[in-house]
Amino acid sequence: MAQKSWRSNQSSDEYFLKAKKLGFRSRSVFKLKEINKKYKIITKEARILDLGSSPGGWSEYIANNHRVKTITANDIQPMESIDNVKFIPGDFTKDEIQREIIASNNNHKFNLILSDISTKKTGNKITDQYQFYNIANDVLEFSLNGLTSNGVLVIKVFIGHGFDDFKNDLDNCFEDVYIYKPKSSRPESKETYAIGKKIRYTQNL
Ligand SMILES: C[S@@+](CC[C@H](N)C(=O)[O-])C[C@H]1O[C@@H](n2cnc3c(N)ncnc32)[C@H](O)[C@@H]1O
Repeated sequence: MAQKSWRSNQSSDEYFLKAKKLGFRSRSVFKLKEINKKYKIITKEARILDLGSSPGGWSEYIANNHRVKTITANDIQPMESIDNVKFIPGDFTKDEIQREIIASNNNHKFNLILSDISTKKTGNKITDQYQFYNIANDVLEFSLNGLTSNGVLVIKVFIGHGFDDFKNDLDNCFEDVYIYKPKSSRPESKETYAIGKKIRYTQNL
């Protein structure tokens, strides 16, 4: 029953229908477009890392619409290949996967790190938030090493337990931090996005 109502929500969802019509892999593309319109995150010749990339909406959109230098994508789920996108399969929290990501970019730092990672829901709100922010902290730690000094981090976050601490960490790491919920993000979802610009310090890879 619950699944049925989720399906009917999906099929009447304006962005879901639009994504289907335009042949996008996911409705998430509209969120990236809105974030980019407002914060100009995708720049010419950028090296980009797309975490939690499957089914590939963001990577495909960038590859087809922007002149960037490299796109590396990673997900624990498989992703159908996209021209000019290097896909690294595996759990981002594992050291060996992070090493592969760095190596795939010839040890260059990234100009933009995107994380649209969401963890599987258990039904327990505290556990879900805790698991999510564990990964979000890994993404932030990786970004401090992996971003160029003027690099940008865009990370999906969920309002609730753990959010304020994570926002404080972002404020400590970046000069400018913005919290932005695109119109295409479902209003009933606690999902929003944090954008960190001008890293306060960098570490060697
Ligand atoms: C909302 S989807 C991303 C949609 C994507 N941005 C797009 O445009 O198609 C979230 C993704 O996070 C991935 N994910 C969750 N935990 C992960 C982990 N530990 N490492 C890598 N990816 C993970 C999931 O497998 C899922 O594909």
